Amino acid sequence: MIETIKEHLTQVEKFTADNLNDIEDFRIKYLGKKGLLNDFFAEFKNVPGDQKKEFGQTINQLKTAALEKVNALKAELENKQQEANIYGDLTRPGTPLELGSRHPISIVKNQIVDIFSRIGFNVSEGPEMEDDWHNFTALNLPEYHPARDMQDTFFIQTDPDILLRTHTSSVQVRYMENNQPPIRTISPGRVYRNEAISARSHCFFHQVEGLYIDKGVSFADLKQTLQYFTTEMFGKSRIRLRPSYFPFTEPSAEVDVYWGLETETDYKMTKGTGWLEIMGCGMVDPNVLQNCGIDPNEYSGFAFGMGIDRIALLLHQISDIRMLSENDVRFLKQFKSVL
Ligand code: PHE
Repeated sequence: MIETIKEHLTQVEKFTADNLNDIEDFRIKYLGKKGLLNDFFAEFKNVPGDQKKEFGQTINQLKTAALEKVNALKAELENKQQEANIYGDLTRPGTPLELGSRHPISIVKNQIVDIFSRIGFNVSEGPEMEDDWHNFTALNLPEYHPARDMQDTFFIQTDPDILLRTHTSSVQVRYMENNQPPIRTISPGRVYRNEAISARSHCFFHQVEGLYIDKGVSFADLKQTLQYFTTEMFGKSRIRLRPSYFPFTEPSAEVDVYWGLETETDYKMTKGTGWLEIMGCGMVDPNVLQNCGIDPNEYSGFAFGMGIDRIALLLHQISDIRMLSENDVRFLKQFKSVL
């Protein structure tokens, strides 16, 4: 009899289970009302007197072992469940990493920078908070110049001399103040204008402005450069220059590129004319050169400026400029580019 109990003892010690049902079966088998332990205890009275002590001890051993086993297995199971709650199923396949994509504004800006860098333009940047001098006065817009109204300005309330730049021409002023010709630089950046926000205009947008100053730079150089740009950027080399006015350039022009009228989209984009206005440009006004410490008798140059947002909207047929600043991932992840 004792041998049988000892055998059970080994079995109990070896027993393992990984679910509650098996543990419960085990508990009932040994510790239940009709369990083996009760059977063994019932046997006690039939055991000869000299064996009673050892028999009793062995049954007690078996009882303790069975109880401990049940408790240990239950504790282990609980631990595992807690871990599973923290980490989930550790064997499940991982979630794929979502790769981000560049913002359409950055894509277009990088394209423009890349095109001009191939013909020797460097990139210059300046502060978005500007002073009156760099944004207006140096650019031939003295204090009461009516053309200041062309650009509704956000002023910093506590200091009327400080404002949010309305164009990156201010960077060109800074560049000319700090560098002597030859100058070939483009200035990309965010600019601000106090305009009602709608699908077509926003109170901030992005520009790339360019500046080329050297001896003997002519309007023909300007046209060549722009033609190179439109060919590289849009694959279109036919451009036209319409007379226009900017205080800082003389003469000034508006640049249209001939887009064509092949598809319905072409019609929409060009309002049926085939022509698309893409930027303003002109020969830098001698006053501006003078203001920035460059001798207008020795040097001449051209400048141009375009809106990145507008080009991004056109190229991607985006109907609402606000999409560009709302950071809706469903919109943004449609744009993939290496640039
Ligand atoms: N600064 C002008 C604008 O913001 C663009 C421009 C730049 C025009 C350089 C001519 C020459 O509208």
